[in-house]
Amino acid sequence: MQKSELITELIRSRRSVFTQQFEAGKRIPDEIIWQALENANWAPNHKFTEPWRFTVFTGEGLQKLAEQQAAVYKQYAGSKFKQNKYEGMLVTPQQCSHVIAIGCKRSTDQLPEIEEVAAVACAVQNIYLTISAYDNIGGYWSTGGITFIEEAKPLFGLGPDDLLMGFFYLGYVKTPSVSGKRRPVQEKVTWVG
Ligand SMILES: Cc1cc2nc3c(=O)[nH]c(=O)nc-3n(C[C@H](O)[C@H](O)[C@H](O)COP(=O)(O)O)c2cc1C
Repeated sequence: MQKSELITELIRSRRSVFTQQFEAGKRIPDEIIWQALENANWAPNHKFTEPWRFTVFTGEGLQKLAEQQAAVYKQYAGSKFKQNKYEGMLVTPQQCSHVIAIGCKRSTDQLPEIEEVAAVACAVQNIYLTISAYDNIGGYWSTGGITFIEEAKPLFGLGPDDLLMGFFYLGYVKTPSVSGKRRPVQEKVTWVG
């Protein structure tokens, strides 16, 4: 297959795989996670600020994440607190092989927020694509849980100017995702010329 065909195949066959589809307790080799992180590090970014920051939880770290996120949620969710969401936070990490907290470390003196958020999103897409190249490994980007709780940031080495952009959940796939769907690109393109 030519490179152009390979990249098209990889991009279009990439699917989110959710935690209930994982084979709980089966750990992905750390080398594969590092490969995904290295590829994330090659994302385009303006002024070489390389704003992506990742905190990887695996093994005993998953329990630590579960306890820490549930505690932060309980303390700071306020009127948005939901008991079932709290209970979910205590168990979801254990369904995964690895969980990667996604941070955006701002260079406020150099770039507007949108540029650095965009660069982190490019990095996360590289993670998505890297794991999609393995038939039996899957994952997805979640902006649920404690993503938008300000007080959660220090858990992941992030300061007040920085952004917590969610979590990438990874695991071996027990139940594959069904094929994807998109509306035609022509609906979203204005072609001039
Ligand atoms: C920025 C971002 C945030 C997302 N947050 C969530 C989320 O909180 N919960 C969820 O179930 N899926 C989340 N997703 C994954 C989407 O559900 C998924 O991409 C969508 O269903 C399309 O499926 P596909 O990735 O297989 O193409 C998120 C995706 C992106 C890009």
